[in-house]
Amino acid sequence: MEQKNLMESGSLWLPEAASTYASDFDVFYNSIYYFSIFLLVSVFGIAVYFTIRYRRRAGNEIAEKQITHNDRMEIIWIVIPTILVMIVFAWGFRDYIRFTVVPEDVIEYKVIGQKWNWIFFDPITGQQSSELVVPEGRNIKLVMNSIDVIHSFYLPNFRAKRDVIPGRYTVLWFNAEKKGIYPVLCAEYCGDQHSTMLTTLKVVGQEEYDQYIAEAKASQNIPPVELGEKLYSSYGCNACHSLDGKPGLGPTWKGIFGIDRELVNGEAIAVEENYLRESITQPAVKIVSGYNNVMPSFAYLSEKELDGLIEYIKTVK
Ligand code: CUA
Repeated sequence: MEQKNLMESGSLWLPEAASTYASDFDVFYNSIYYFSIFLLVSVFGIAVYFTIRYRRRAGNEIAEKQITHNDRMEIIWIVIPTILVMIVFAWGFRDYIRFTVVPEDVIEYKVIGQKWNWIFFDPITGQQSSELVVPEGRNIKLVMNSIDVIHSFYLPNFRAKRDVIPGRYTVLWFNAEKKGIYPVLCAEYCGDQHSTMLTTLKVVGQEEYDQYIAEAKASQNIPPVELGEKLYSSYGCNACHSLDGKPGLGPTWKGIFGIDRELVNGEAIAVEENYLRESITQPAVKIVSGYNNVMPSFAYLSEKELDGLIEYIKTVK
């Protein structure tokens, strides 16, 4: 499937439009944009022209010195801009309502934003993942919430953005028009790893979606090690923890089970089940020497998922 690039434009400034409302919003945006350029050029053009045309020179020194009033002109420059601004208001309000009022017949996902990743709860499979997979042509509703600071869920290709706030649910909906893999960004500065808060939205056809659901349901009954291996990439552990010994943002998983590690406070600790569990659910408690406290908490994992990850780590040698 095609991975959409943000720099690949559908219009001059914006990435390819991929939701049902995106191209309409673009028409609105572009209308204001180009009309503003037209006004800017006109006003400056006329100003420059008049400056040259009516400059002081022999023969026109007796130009009127003081202009006090012109009713007709004042009415024109009040009425015309007022009409223009009201058109922009009505048009913008209509699009705002379209974006804000969620249609009926939706598939509803729960989304959690945290420093620094997104977690999606699939209502059909009951599973959590760090990537969102949705069917093409269906209304998708996201009910979002943050567990730490303010984030902002942003789908540039869909022209959809909404803040994700601790202690409150916010809602965003869209209907994906085109299949593809689209970038999901955080659009609110939320700490030093803000720029890494990226994931993808995969829009698939109904058939592929049914297959995805069937596979996800089947995967609920796989052995712990296999589950852990799947979670390693689906939760994005692979972004920081390598399997081949290379250091990343976090320690490699290669051969760590059973060895002793030195922590930043100088203490040594054996890598066993309890330590791993604590480091997944409360990563800040024991930081390995040479690394920073940057890992988000995965305290919302189920017992089965925690068990799967720990069993998997044991096998990485
Ligand atoms: Cu989350 Cu920026």
